[in-house]
Amino acid sequence: MERTTTTISQEEISRQLGFCREIAALNAVRPQAPLAFVDTYGCQQNEADSERIRGYLRQMGYDFTQDEEQAQIIVLNTCAIREHAEQRVLGNLGALVHVKRRHPDQIICLCGCMAQEPHVAEKVRQSFRHVDLVFGPHVLWKFPEFIHTLLTGRGRIFQIPDEAGSIAEGIPVVRQDTVKAWVSIMYGCNNFCSYCIVPYVRGRERSRKPEDILREVRELVEQGYKDITLLGQNVNSYGKDLDQAMDFADLLQAINAIPGDFLIRFMTSHPKDATQKLFETMARCEKVAPVLHLPFQAGNDRILKIMNRRHTREQYLEKIRSLKALIPDIVLTSDVIVGFPGETTEEFEDTLKVLEEVRFDALFTFIYSPRVGTPAAEMDDPMSREEKLANFNRLVALQDQISEEKHAAYIGKTVRCLVDGVSDDPRYPVTARTPGNRLVRLTGGTAQDVGQFMDVQITGANKWSLFGDLLFLEEK
Ligand code: 5AD
Ligand code: SF4
Repeated sequence: MERTTTTISQEEISRQLGFCREIAALNAVRPQAPLAFVDTYGCQQNEADSERIRGYLRQMGYDFTQDEEQAQIIVLNTCAIREHAEQRVLGNLGALVHVKRRHPDQIICLCGCMAQEPHVAEKVRQSFRHVDLVFGPHVLWKFPEFIHTLLTGRGRIFQIPDEAGSIAEGIPVVRQDTVKAWVSIMYGCNNFCSYCIVPYVRGRERSRKPEDILREVRELVEQGYKDITLLGQNVNSYGKDLDQAMDFADLLQAINAIPGDFLIRFMTSHPKDATQKLFETMARCEKVAPVLHLPFQAGNDRILKIMNRRHTREQYLEKIRSLKALIPDIVLTSDVIVGFPGETTEEFEDTLKVLEEVRFDALFTFIYSPRVGTPAAEMDDPMSREEKLANFNRLVALQDQISEEKHAAYIGKTVRCLVDGVSDDPRYPVTARTPGNRLVRLTGGTAQDVGQFMDVQITGANKWSLFGDLLFLEEK
């Protein structure tokens, strides 16, 4: 089915902001600002979407809470990538029935990727009658209108249109952090890896216009943000749908040219679309962090083929070799699935060989989880859960050893890090990140240092993090 991207007009967004103002006027008569609770599951794209939901809620006059008993509006922004994530959401959503019994005026909303799955929406319609609003990612921009309808009329709203997706500029944002910011550069995915639900719930690939992205990054840098992550399911195919000739490497270069002292990160990259031009651009652009998250999923070519990944193990390794030749200190991370339907233990061992050859700094490891509606969910899956778990444990043990060795190699080095947060542990009051995004726990420092680039002497390491001392505050 051919489905085209819809660009939401500025008039539409203005209309939504009009609903915000009407709701804010209703809320203004209360003695105190009402509270909203936005609970986010899953990936950074969802975090970024929640920042827009909070942006709208703020315009409607809401403040924020983490306590569901205090909240007038509860929003669960959900993830559908694995069964476990879905079970957790359904458990939490079910428990809200008791909360709502105590607060009958509360509005409960389910959104994000799970909401877009027809069987989930149906289950909520039938069995979770305390849920007032269910909407998919394509209509997030209409959130104020939905809330306005609920506040002025009640009833339930289910909005999960089956669309290729939309792009909406101008939605207000309340960011969660003051140092790090997410910037979506594109939405959706065209790849249809056979295990993955994302293309079904997030629609087709669509790129934001470069001028909108550049304006957002420029504003963030002016506000003092130091660590900017460009987001997309497959950032390497950025620009393919634009009228102008601009690919992801060109975009990186344009962002790199924005004045200021800040780091540029991006995720996620697909190996089939990660080009030599991208690697050369990364090597050339001083603000682009020396780190690449490049999921390979499996090390065996038969499995890669039935995963519909459209690259072989050798092609993947070749790209890594080219990248390492250009940026020898590149930090590499990846995603791996263990126990894809039909994967034998021998085939799984090819995944271990990739770990040994590449020596990733960190790995995100998953046991395959069947997703309704994907081709892999229909495939024969003879391996027992115990065998998959045994393979998974071997994978984790090998990666732990590699991570520990890679971290140990930092000891004694001085690294320019970005101080990014405070911690509860009095021995390490602040945390920082290396340019490659490794966590460093610092023996000195205060909340005042957050947001500064500082030189750190690395004194220790384990498989999860590095430890270090602040050397001096850089001249600003
Ligand atoms: N089962 C297990 N892991 C999955 N991922 C995506 N879909 C599934 C699934 N059905 C993993 C992939 C992807 C990461 C975000 O989640 O490794 O890169
Ligand atoms: Fe899912 Fe594959 Fe798209 Fe990543 S590239 S979101 S794994 S379909």
